[in-house]
Amino acid sequence: MNTERYTVTAALPYANGPIHIGHLAGVYVPADIYVRYLRSKGRDVVFVSGSDEHGVPITIKAKKEGVTPQYIVDKYHAQIKKSFADFGISFDLYSRTSNKVHHDTASEFFTVLNDKGVLEVKTTDQYYDEKAGQFLADRYIIGGCPNCGYTEAYGDQCESCGTSLSPSELINPRSALSGDKPVRKKTKHWYLPLNRYETWLKEWIIDGHKKDWKTNVYGQCKSWIDQGLNARAVTRDLDWGVPVPVVDGQGKVLYVWFDAPIGYISATREWAAQTGNDWEKYWKDPGTKLVHFIGKDNIVFHCIIFPAMLKSHGEYVLPDNVPANEFLNLENNKVSTSKNWAVWLHEYLEDFPGKQDVLRYVLCVNAPETKDNDFTWKDFQARNNNELVAILGNFINRVVVLTHKFFNGVIPERGALTAFDNKLIQRIADFPDVLSLNFENFKFREALNTFMDISRLGNKYLADTEPWKLIKEDRERVGTILNLSLQVAANLAIMGEPFLPFTVEKINNILGLDKKQWNSAGSIDLIGTGHQINEPTLLFEKIEDKAIEFQINKLNATKTDTKLGNKVNDEIKPVKDTILYEDFSKLDLRIGTIIGAEKVEKSNKLLKLKIDTGMDRRTVVSGIAKDYSPGEIVGMKVSILINLAPKKIMGIESQGMILMGEGDDGKLAFLLPDKEIVNGSVIS
Ligand code: 2FM
Ligand code: ZN
Repeated sequence: MNTERYTVTAALPYANGPIHIGHLAGVYVPADIYVRYLRSKGRDVVFVSGSDEHGVPITIKAKKEGVTPQYIVDKYHAQIKKSFADFGISFDLYSRTSNKVHHDTASEFFTVLNDKGVLEVKTTDQYYDEKAGQFLADRYIIGGCPNCGYTEAYGDQCESCGTSLSPSELINPRSALSGDKPVRKKTKHWYLPLNRYETWLKEWIIDGHKKDWKTNVYGQCKSWIDQGLNARAVTRDLDWGVPVPVVDGQGKVLYVWFDAPIGYISATREWAAQTGNDWEKYWKDPGTKLVHFIGKDNIVFHCIIFPAMLKSHGEYVLPDNVPANEFLNLENNKVSTSKNWAVWLHEYLEDFPGKQDVLRYVLCVNAPETKDNDFTWKDFQARNNNELVAILGNFINRVVVLTHKFFNGVIPERGALTAFDNKLIQRIADFPDVLSLNFENFKFREALNTFMDISRLGNKYLADTEPWKLIKEDRERVGTILNLSLQVAANLAIMGEPFLPFTVEKINNILGLDKKQWNSAGSIDLIGTGHQINEPTLLFEKIEDKAIEFQINKLNATKTDTKLGNKVNDEIKPVKDTILYEDFSKLDLRIGTIIGAEKVEKSNKLLKLKIDTGMDRRTVVSGIAKDYSPGEIVGMKVSILINLAPKKIMGIESQGMILMGEGDDGKLAFLLPDKEIVNGSVIS
């Protein structure tokens, strides 16, 4: 038998915090829907993920809490694994990167690349904290972002504008450990020469995947490739991670983004060893389709860096598709682990027991497939009450109750069919293909809406045929109507399984049916005449205002706590070193007015502003384009540092810096005078 084989991966979440709705909507719900569909189609699929237990975010958290990194990863790995299982994410294996099999797999992979001469070894000057006695990789170093000016950018990325950085690009870098200015010290590292893969990546992605990859994914890849690729270090001077497996690699570990994606391979090996499968088929057989589910911040790693690793290794298949989602916001604000602005999965499962499918439904129907989207508790309530209860739950309940009432729960015979019945039958037969196409193209929102149309159709069929009125005069006709309606219900149990597995289990229990595969969908012979069904149980119940208010209050309390400082908000950094008044007095801060604004070409973060400073009109390039459009800021007063050395940004000379804060909504905010002040007034 020639079954299509799939290896489906879902991003390995960092084991430094619980899972929230952003993770679920972006990665795990779509991945699980896809996999459940593939399994129902009878495809040969392995679905793996696991905890990403290395990397600086983990060691920093451990240091902050005064515990070991192992303590942190053990705690969160257990919590994450359990909450995924309770939520019905049907991994074949949820593993972790601190496992021996992973250390072995990642080491072997590195060794192959090193032995093949793929990796370049370079000794360079890197930042070093003399007080801490440590090199400062990635998040251990903080400084100004050269792109947007944000002063708290990390050595690997600016979280304000999203630009990927290297420590040497940071302006006024300081150590996240001691706060000290770091020194430069020589160190040796291994690099993956991405530049050598540029031509191949162009062919493979830009020419080869223009049509089948999502536009958001393709667009990001193209822009990376167009900008030109550089060699990236794949080792770090740290003591937490997979040790670099060469003699002169002592005291160094593999970069977390080198080892983490290899975690997909390790997890497959582990699963295969446990189940007696051959893992290599799932990674090395050219017929296998490799599909990575990730969030948009992981695109470059999964579409460029990991494929370059796989390609240079030589034995592996490459990803067939990487259907990355955008981000899900919560009540109009970015989900933030450190600000506790999130709906945590483990808390949801406690607050809404037995309602996994409600969240699965809302996160899918609202999935950020093509753009960022917003989750609100009011919408959650409305979707449950007006869609799950009123459409799907209502249909199943009506059919089952009527069958019990008129036929004692025994499936009645189907008599002669009318043209109206045949129309219903035709429509039901059409659904599986429409849905399949949606699933295969990663259009899960559309798929879910299509699925709900089946219940809408069923409800309309009942409303139009009115069996409750007909029963007195034509019992046989009512038998036909209910027989067909029950077939629709059985179809819902097949086609709904990828989205709502808990509900489908209940429907199958009520109908007394075993779980059926996708190839039965569309049939009207799923339940035989004379079959006895069970009493109805409630599929969904209304969610009352009280429950929603509780959730909203919980969120608002987070906000107040953060503001009052009751909560440890680890995004608020400790005060900087004390400076003398002479240092402060060197800053020439003034009030000005924005008299012109335009977008900077090829940048979605920068605006070119013309500022009237009272004494001149000057150009300032500012990273505020994400939060402000040129049209809305012309005429606004600003606070501006005017004696900052001019700097070329995207080819434009910027002559100063405007001062911004962060509003409660997470967006940048202007620091404005509270009364009229003329341009040029000194801020002191
Ligand atoms: O962004 C993250 O949360 C990473 N831990 C994702 C890793 S995905 C994969 F490469 F393992
Ligand atoms: Zn930035």
